[in-house]
Amino acid sequence: MMEKIVCESYEEACCTAADFFAQQLKRKPDSVLGLATGSTPIGLYEEFVSRYQAGEMDFSRARAFNLDEYHPIEATHPQSYKTFMDEHLFSKVNFAQTRIPNGEAPDPNIECAKYSADLEAAGGLDMLLLGIGHNGHVGFNEPASSYPLEAYKVDLTGETLEANSRFFGENEIQPITALTMGIGQIFAAKHILLLICGASKVEITKKLFEGKLHTDIPACFLLLHPNVTLVIDRAANGG
Ligand code: GLP
Repeated sequence: MMEKIVCESYEEACCTAADFFAQQLKRKPDSVLGLATGSTPIGLYEEFVSRYQAGEMDFSRARAFNLDEYHPIEATHPQSYKTFMDEHLFSKVNFAQTRIPNGEAPDPNIECAKYSADLEAAGGLDMLLLGIGHNGHVGFNEPASSYPLEAYKVDLTGETLEANSRFFGENEIQPITALTMGIGQIFAAKHILLLICGASKVEITKKLFEGKLHTDIPACFLLLHPNVTLVIDRAANGG
């Protein structure tokens, strides 16, 4: 069942999503949280930081698993998801542990197996934050004819490369492959918080909710998940 909450603005959507995470941490301080990157979660992470500073959220027993990372990419590269998470969240709040697929790993398959083993050892995800790509990708699970259940190395589509090229400078090489959590691991999350914001997401949102399971839209698997909360702003919801 998907609960849908339509918010007036991006800020309201971020506050609403933050409420869910705050409640989760109150209920289970040692929660395992799945986290996303992209521009959508930036406001949510700002909420996490200000609530942490106000003593309203405590991550000291929580563990974070990020969905994905470019590969190959240096951890210190300005566009690595490691840098993104450090800048927006990890350097500002007190997570007990954080885990991002290692973009520097010499063998991506070995790193994916390690990442999957770490996630399993942590007991899987209690709550997972997801954004959505314009082509319906979740994490970096791109449209395909089959989807690995566990973490894997993926070739990014032209559409995703173009969408994310805005972040890379003219002289920066943009990786064309990435490591991502698999669909099975996403699906195993006990509660999924899907955050969709901005007018550029209207088309994919319409397609996602038109009442069909499009196999070329990875996010469609979420329609079958028993516990998804969609937090969407009016812009993405079509006004
Ligand atoms: C990125 C990330 C996704 C994210 C998506 C949308 O490529 N791998 O996890 O949800 O694209 O990003 P944005 O929020 O910037 O639209």
